[in-house]
Amino acid sequence: MNAIYPGTFDPVTNGHVDIAERSAKIFNQLIIAVIKSPNKKTLFNCDERIEMITKSINHIKNVKVMKYSGLTVNFAKKTNSEVIVRGLRITSDFEYESEMALVNRRMEKSIETVCLFSSLENQILSSSRVKEIASLGANISTLVPKNVCIPLLTKLKNHDYK
Ligand code: COA
Repeated sequence: MNAIYPGTFDPVTNGHVDIAERSAKIFNQLIIAVIKSPNKKTLFNCDERIEMITKSINHIKNVKVMKYSGLTVNFAKKTNSEVIVRGLRITSDFEYESEMALVNRRMEKSIETVCLFSSLENQILSSSRVKEIASLGANISTLVPKNVCIPLLTKLKNHDYK
């Protein structure tokens, strides 16, 4: 069975890598699906987000990274993936994720959503928090993969991140 793990990944965090590693053990093939134009404004463009996540998961054999736009269920179908993987962190994620799963299921019955509970150390981790912490000069080395630290600090230096 194949799965996609969709998201914005602006930037990828240790929480995303943890979900990718664990999903890769469950599914034959996992595609990390990086949305090109999410509803939110991104700090990194799509190619930059893809480059960072590709380097972060290159130790996992059955995972690849692809860019997509449009509906997530359509991308799942196009890539012959039967499952959408999402990570569930604190309880507030549940409402957002369950609504998204229901909408996706209404649009495409053949695709199931599987949520994995985030590991304890990643429960309060998000890309926005990482950007905020980095922009305020704190150490992010335990929150993101090694290869993300320099691009993130460099980007923030050249941006007025709010
Ligand atoms: N560890 C750490 N952080 C995590 C995490 C984990 N395991 N899982 C999620 N997060 C964080 C992300 O960093 C992100 O943080 P941010 O809001 O600070 O940027 C946040 O949770 C949201 O997660 P993300 O995985 O980036 O998803 P998203 O909400 O940006 O992406 C899409 C949602 C793209 C999958 C969804 O909008 C979508 O499917 N869009 C396409 C259109 C469509 O099909 N719509 C119908 C579905 S309703």
